[in-house]
Amino acid sequence: PVSWKLEDHPKLPKGKTIAVVVLDGWGEYKPDQYNCIHVAQTPTMDSLKQGAPEKWRLVRAHGTAVGLPTEDDMGNSEVGHNALGAGRIFAQGAKLVDLALASGKIYDGEGFKYISESFEKGTLHLIGLLSDGGVHSRLDQLQLLLKGAGERGAKRIRVHILTDGRDVLDGSSVGFVETLENDLANLRAKGVDARIASGGGRMYVTMDRYENDWNVVKRGWDAQVLGEAPHKFTSAVEAVKKLRGNANDQYLPPFVIVDENNKAVGPIVDGDAVVTINFRADRMVMLAKALEYQDFNKFDRVRFPKIRYAGMLQYDGELMLPSRYLVSPPEIDRTSGEYLVHNGVRTFACSETVKFGHVTFFWNGNRSGCFKPDMEEYVEIPSDVGITFNVKPKMKALEIGEKARDAILSRKFDQIRVNIPNGDMVGHTGDIEATVVACKAADDAVKMILDAIEQVGGIYVVTADHGNAEDMVKRNKSGEPLKDKDGNLQILTSHTCQPVPIAIGGPGLAPGVRFRNDVPNGGLANVAATVMNLHGFVAPGDYEPTLIEVVGN
Ligand code: 3PG
Ligand code: CO
Repeated sequence: PVSWKLEDHPKLPKGKTIAVVVLDGWGEYKPDQYNCIHVAQTPTMDSLKQGAPEKWRLVRAHGTAVGLPTEDDMGNSEVGHNALGAGRIFAQGAKLVDLALASGKIYDGEGFKYISESFEKGTLHLIGLLSDGGVHSRLDQLQLLLKGAGERGAKRIRVHILTDGRDVLDGSSVGFVETLENDLANLRAKGVDARIASGGGRMYVTMDRYENDWNVVKRGWDAQVLGEAPHKFTSAVEAVKKLRGNANDQYLPPFVIVDENNKAVGPIVDGDAVVTINFRADRMVMLAKALEYQDFNKFDRVRFPKIRYAGMLQYDGELMLPSRYLVSPPEIDRTSGEYLVHNGVRTFACSETVKFGHVTFFWNGNRSGCFKPDMEEYVEIPSDVGITFNVKPKMKALEIGEKARDAILSRKFDQIRVNIPNGDMVGHTGDIEATVVACKAADDAVKMILDAIEQVGGIYVVTADHGNAEDMVKRNKSGEPLKDKDGNLQILTSHTCQPVPIAIGGPGLAPGVRFRNDVPNGGLANVAATVMNLHGFVAPGDYEPTLIEVVGN
């Protein structure tokens, strides 16, 4: 059994109201015209930077600092918020799947055995994001799984692709589909009937999150399960090339691949096996519900096939969903949020729908719901639905700021935690002008929260989960923007590998508190111990070290 009692901090008092603000997609990068944070009016964040190096510093938010396989892996919200909340670095889904594939253990597990019972008579369907972004899935993992399944008896395989353009460059979908087609042709040469069966852009088909818009999942269901879509093609490469005429990779409409009789080549039917190949949970768990739950009323499934279904990982440990999976997820236990409520810290968490699970589910180690409902309040502000966020780049920043302000002024909470999504969600659209507006809106929201902290004599911790808005172009090694063969700037819709700022302050911050200079490589996982200190506690011994020290008496 875990002992939840935290030791008192020898120098820092309890009972301060602390705002923990996470700016999503807000990294630190050189100030040029493609750095939207630099271009935007961000007086609040600029003023915090003046506090460097005692009250403002940078922390690592990508690669091994957040449990990703390599230093080339950009950060993302899942691993970022996991690290922020858990205070330790866990090998994340991307890495765990790599290891399971490399050792072959993936094929010895219960999950693979279960789906392989369908190989003799049924089809194996693989559904997921097709790119090498490494945020939700990775192409090389799909390639290995295809090969491994073929070698282990899968006779008929259908791949249902979701094109990316969000964790990778827009337009790169064509190349990924070509690579996949080549692999499938190799499998066919070995006697496995393997084909792409359907597709669509990730933001329009299947990969919604936090139940923002079930229509997105329905569009995918219709194509993947029912074999029905507004667009029919005989080749997936042709499909993606044609559909890109009217939409970018993220938003391609759903399509199905048909045979010479115009019949879909791969609907999902009784007796088939299905694997959702994404390792990351947030954008797969809705489909997992549709595939697994007997009782389901989010949309009309029309047909609910009797299948053997497994996730690449289990996406929700509380819901045990899906019940079968190929690789066990990281076990992120004893998070700072759980410790703090056990030590009397009353907590308020808030964001708008598209990031709500980030400051709750991801923050709490991929766990839904509160630890102690009488001490916690989680507020979700509904996001706009059915638009790309460059159309409304202010999003709900103001509303989040207001909710946080009211929670602070109510004095009912000790920790007020928010995620402000603008830099990330608008940054992902690749619209530079809109992202500048987004960054200003985020800065305005921070100001509202800091003003409220000022009024109650509290403390603020302002940081971010990974970079995005601070760099909107693809660059060469020396940092110069790259152009494509037509001379157009290559817009970076994805996250970055840049570090993120962290600032502390507020009237409640004890004199003498400052950032230590002996944790130069500090990362997001060091923030949890820091926040625990500010609440008046010493972090558990296995947490990454605190970033602060108290100098003087
Ligand atoms: C997404 O899911 O929107 C992107 O792939 C990653 O963005 P996030 O990690 O900021 O959510
Ligand atoms: Co993002």
